[in-house]
Amino acid sequence: MNIVVGVTGASGAQYAFALLRHLKDHVDLVISEDAKKVIAHEMDVGVDAFAKLATAVWRNDDTTAPPSSGSYRFAAMVIIPCSLGTLGKIAWGISDNLITRAAAVCLKERRKLILVPRETPLAATHMENMVRLANQGAVILPAMPGFYHKPETVDDLVNFIVGKVLDQLGIEHRLFRRWRE
Ligand SMILES: Cc1cc2nc3c(=O)[nH]c(=O)nc-3n(C[C@H](O)[C@H](O)[C@H](O)COP(=O)(O)O)c2cc1C
Repeated sequence: MNIVVGVTGASGAQYAFALLRHLKDHVDLVISEDAKKVIAHEMDVGVDAFAKLATAVWRNDDTTAPPSSGSYRFAAMVIIPCSLGTLGKIAWGISDNLITRAAAVCLKERRKLILVPRETPLAATHMENMVRLANQGAVILPAMPGFYHKPETVDDLVNFIVGKVLDQLGIEHRLFRRWRE
């Protein structure tokens, strides 16, 4: 299964890195310019380490790259973390870079689109944009870890969200203990 992973400039680059480590599929990776700044600020590893975990890496300003076309076969796209700026653009059909264009392809081709926003608190506009996307079939999966699996480390919290993304992709994992498991 081909999966497109978009990384944008919301806090939570760790979520993207952990997801990439757990995906065994063909991964097309796109990292926004602002995500690169957040990675430099939040991570001990650089963008190169992210790139090594992908099958192919595309520039976000390259709207001629394969994921920009509906004729390119990919099953799903995950934007993790997803800035509310990118989420808003997708909600309103603005395809001004490869990430927003590939997301628009998912919506028009009825492919799985999973958005992992991270922000708090939320303005009404943000919530309205999320509803707009949910009504078009996108999965809004906020970076909101639960605590019922008794997390002890930051990795436990990160893995909870990554596990939820893998659940949406139908990929088996043991990243967190399920309720009553
Ligand atoms: C350190 C840092 C943390 C940020 N965290 C968030 C965040 O959690 N959520 C968000 O929506 N934007 C956040 N931003 C702002 C986005 O980076 C900014 O809106 C950017 O234009 C998003 O562009 P992109 O979606 O193309 O990456 C953050 C910016 C910086 C520098």
